[in-house]
Amino acid sequence: MKQSLILAIDTSADDTSAAVTQGTRVLSNVIASQTELHKQYGGIFPTVAKLAHKENIAPTVAAALKRARVAEKDIDAVAVTQGPGLAPALEVGISFAKELTKKWNVPLIPVNHVEGHLLSAIAQPPSAIIKMPLSYPALGIVVSGGHTSFVLIEESNKYKVLGQTLDDAAGECLDKVGRMLNLGYPAGAIIEQFSKLGNSKAIEFPLPLTTVKTFDVSFSGLKTFSRNVLAKKTADQPLTQQEIYNFCASLQYAVFRHICYKISKILEKYSVNEVLLGGGVSANATLRNMLRQPIKKQGLKLKVPYTKRLCMDNAAMIGVVAGMKADPKDKEMEIERQPNLGL
Ligand code: KG4
Ligand code: ZN
Repeated sequence: MKQSLILAIDTSADDTSAAVTQGTRVLSNVIASQTELHKQYGGIFPTVAKLAHKENIAPTVAAALKRARVAEKDIDAVAVTQGPGLAPALEVGISFAKELTKKWNVPLIPVNHVEGHLLSAIAQPPSAIIKMPLSYPALGIVVSGGHTSFVLIEESNKYKVLGQTLDDAAGECLDKVGRMLNLGYPAGAIIEQFSKLGNSKAIEFPLPLTTVKTFDVSFSGLKTFSRNVLAKKTADQPLTQQEIYNFCASLQYAVFRHICYKISKILEKYSVNEVLLGGGVSANATLRNMLRQPIKKQGLKLKVPYTKRLCMDNAAMIGVVAGMKADPKDKEMEIERQPNLGL
C-alpha cells in the first residue's frame, strides 16, 4: 500500500519550514532561517518573526514541493505544528495550512512540536527502502532552545514525561551565557566550536539536583554561577581568548554532565529498547559522545537524527509524526494554535 504523501509546515519559532514526507522518509525539508533578523535583539522578537513567516511561507512550501518533485495534486494531507511555540508565529503556519487543505481538499493533521523533536531520530533519507520501526518502550531525549525533556515512549502516541527542566532549557542556558560572553545569538554552536579549543576542567561548575530523586533538570543555577564567575574574573581586566575557550568548554561540560547524570538514573530505573535524541542541542558532538556512555552501559545505542537539519526546528519531523498518526482529523476540524501545548 502506498504511504500518504504529507506536506508539513512548522512556524513555531523563528524558522519558516516546509517539508514533504512519506512515512518516515523525508523527501524534502526546506528551512528559511530568520536568525540574521533576530540577531540584533539577542533573542526572537515575536512580531518580527510573524512578519517574516508571512513573507516566507508561500515560497518555502513551493520549494518543498519542488525539491521533493511532488505535484500539489499528489499531496494526501497537510500537517502543521499546533504548539508549543510563539502564538503569532504558530498562527501564520496554521492559517496557511488551513488554506492549503481547502484548496487541495485534503485533511489537516495537527502535530505537537516537541513530539516532532522527540521522534526526529526515526526520520529516514528519501532513498530508504525499509521502514525502521521503533521498538517500545523507548526513551526520548529532547534538548533544544525551548525544551529539555526526558520522555518514556511506551507505545505509539503514548508518552510519559519522566523529567524536564524546572527553569531554562539547556540551549537557552548556553544562549544566555553566550550573551554574557558576547558570542552572538544563538550561541550553542559557537560554544561547541570554542569548547574544542578549551579545557573543560578549567572551571569547576556545580552539578545541580543530585540530592533529589526526580529526573528533572535545572540550568538557572549554572547561569547564575557563570554570571558570578565572569563578574569576578572580568572585574580587573577582560578575559583572554584562551580564558573564553576554557569557560565555554567548562560550561558545556557542566550542562551536558547534568543531563547525562539524570539519563543514567533514568536508565537504571527504566528498561527501554531504544534511546532517541533530538532538538537543536542534539547537533552537538560532545553531548552525543557523553550520552553514549550511560546508554552503552545498558547495552543500547543512541539513535540521532540522520542529518543536522533534523536537529534544529524543521517541518520534516512534523511530517514524520503526522505519518505515524493513524487517523488524520476530519478536514472540517477547526484547529487552533496552542502556544503551551504539552505532550
Ligand atoms: O531545536 P531548536 O532549533 O529550536 C528550539 O526548538 O528551541 O534549538 C535551538 C537551540 C539554541 O539554543 C541553540 O543555541 C542550540 O539549539 N544549538 C546548539 C548547537 N546548535 C544549536 N547547542 C549546542 N551545540 C550546537 N552545535
Ligand atoms: Zn524546537
